[in-house]
Amino acid sequence: MHELNDEVFLFFSRFIESEIGIQYNETNRYLLLSRIQNIAKFLNFSDIDSLWKDIKTHGVNESAKSLILDIATNNETSFFRDPHVFDFFKNEFILNIMKNKDKIRIWSAAASTGQEAYSLAMIMSELNEKGLNKSYEIIATDISERVLKQAENGTYSQLEIQRGLPMNLMVKYFDQVSIDNSSLPFYKVKKELSSHIKFMQLNLLNPWHHQGNFDIIFCRNVLIYQSVENKKQIISRFAKMLLPGGYLILGGAESLLQLSNDYDLEVFGNASVHKLKADIVQNI
Ligand SMILES: C[S@@+](CC[C@H](N)C(=O)[O-])C[C@H]1O[C@@H](n2cnc3c(N)ncnc32)[C@H](O)[C@@H]1O
Repeated sequence: MHELNDEVFLFFSRFIESEIGIQYNETNRYLLLSRIQNIAKFLNFSDIDSLWKDIKTHGVNESAKSLILDIATNNETSFFRDPHVFDFFKNEFILNIMKNKDKIRIWSAAASTGQEAYSLAMIMSELNEKGLNKSYEIIATDISERVLKQAENGTYSQLEIQRGLPMNLMVKYFDQVSIDNSSLPFYKVKKELSSHIKFMQLNLLNPWHHQGNFDIIFCRNVLIYQSVENKKQIISRFAKMLLPGGYLILGGAESLLQLSNDYDLEVFGNASVHKLKADIVQNI
């Protein structure tokens, strides 16, 4: 494989970290190399050197910037990923902690292709069908335009569907569709779910302009790629966006240890969740 010289590696890794906080270092140098090779190809450059020469002369234009930031992200996700978190959401958070609230506001803060937001919407819809009678709104955000496009469209391949979505929910909430003359089946989420979700582009490192406060924020498997300083800053801003008694849910490998004192750790079954402390002042 083509070598990525130090100057080029430093440029791209610093550019990505300054824009979206994701850190590339020596251990994932080759991952970055192969991703930049794909961008060079996509932008019709013969190789990385030609792309690099162009950037040195003209700077990074908007389409190259969007591509670079897009390929820098890891978009791994699936329906009901880490099921115990969804057990907590359904059995403890909605049915118990929020039992006296009529309307629930949820933020899926690194939504990727939307499976997390649709999983939460399916839980709410199933509970409402059984008489819960709560309205809910899910704001789902991500930095990547590409994943947001799929999330908003709500269309998934058979493989994506098979990752975590129980058959009965697939049949109930998705329609089989065909796209691009493909003989493979795709599945599109029904309006009754998607109408509760607003997808928006948002960089967690930039100011947040979406409105209102939230009862629960899911920010799973994204802070892991950020520096300690960025993690601290984002987590403290989440505290200001949560309603009193609100919860922050992180990924299974993520914790608030040495990052924040704004939350109390609570454990429900196999789920560790973070409850906002009572004395935190919100931006309401
Ligand atoms: C690994 S996925 C996690 C998806 C989902 N939360 C889950 O756990 O299944 C991480 C997502 O974070 C997004 N992301 C990375 N950096 C971001 C940033 N600075 N602001 C907003 N989203 C970001 C990526 O585009 C990607 O879709």
